[in-house]
Amino acid sequence: MNSLDLDDCFQTALDLAKEAGLIISEAFKKAKKVEEKTSPRDLVTETDKLIEDQVISKLQELYPNHKFIGEESTAAGIKCELTNDPTWIIDPVDGTLNFVHSFPYTCISIALWVDKKPCLGVVYNPVLQQLYTARKNAGAFLNGERIRVSGKEDLSRSLVVMEMGYRPDEKKMEVVHRNAKKLIERCHGTRALGSAALDMCLVAEGAAEVYWENGLHAWDMAASVLLITEAGGVVLDITGGPHDLMNRRVLCAASPQLAQQMVQLLEVYDEDRD
Ligand code: IPD
Repeated sequence: MNSLDLDDCFQTALDLAKEAGLIISEAFKKAKKVEEKTSPRDLVTETDKLIEDQVISKLQELYPNHKFIGEESTAAGIKCELTNDPTWIIDPVDGTLNFVHSFPYTCISIALWVDKKPCLGVVYNPVLQQLYTARKNAGAFLNGERIRVSGKEDLSRSLVVMEMGYRPDEKKMEVVHRNAKKLIERCHGTRALGSAALDMCLVAEGAAEVYWENGLHAWDMAASVLLITEAGGVVLDITGGPHDLMNRRVLCAASPQLAQQMVQLLEVYDEDRD
């Protein structure tokens, strides 16, 4: 493998995110062509497919030796595998359900991982004009301004963002409800906004203290985990162990103390790996 020019890769990710942003903005207020994937709440639109095709074709042309993981390619049966090779991980429209409803909390997420670690991440919400960027050891930014986590340590004074991750699975939903109840009773407030990638950016910019989810996918979090760590936050597995991108779970917090309080509280539900 030739040596990697990360400046060039970062510029490419930015350009592709902005191009995708134009497509999302253009389609945002219009009627969408929607298909159901695994359930009536798991949706794909023609915009998701168009953006993923466009982004992956361009990346393949520029970096023929790199690997790719994309939400819609995986849905179409392409193997989702993270190796040590440079791997681009793409969610063409995160918050698809929001996008379908024209709820302005939707984005494209592009990440590059090398040696199973994130090198760069770009998350762009073109509707609210929020461009989140991070590069390893170079900080996290919103529209070019440095962002940092709030650093709060006390759960009772923390805003917790969580997605309920609905599945037609009674056992899973019992765990979801028990976790939600415990948090509602203990934290300052809870929010559920419908885009894991943007939820994590809220923690990175210090607007919320915690985000966790049991059941999301690698493409939902691949860029935003770097945003959190570069903003000084903590990313762990919900069990308190190291975060594993393919394990369908994440716990992000504004401080290690807060992460530990969450680990003590949360019950885990095992999902199939990506
Ligand atoms: C979903 C969103 C949602 C999260 C789900 C994700 P999608 O991604 O990020 O907030 O709760 O786990 O799958 O399907 O809109 O790309």
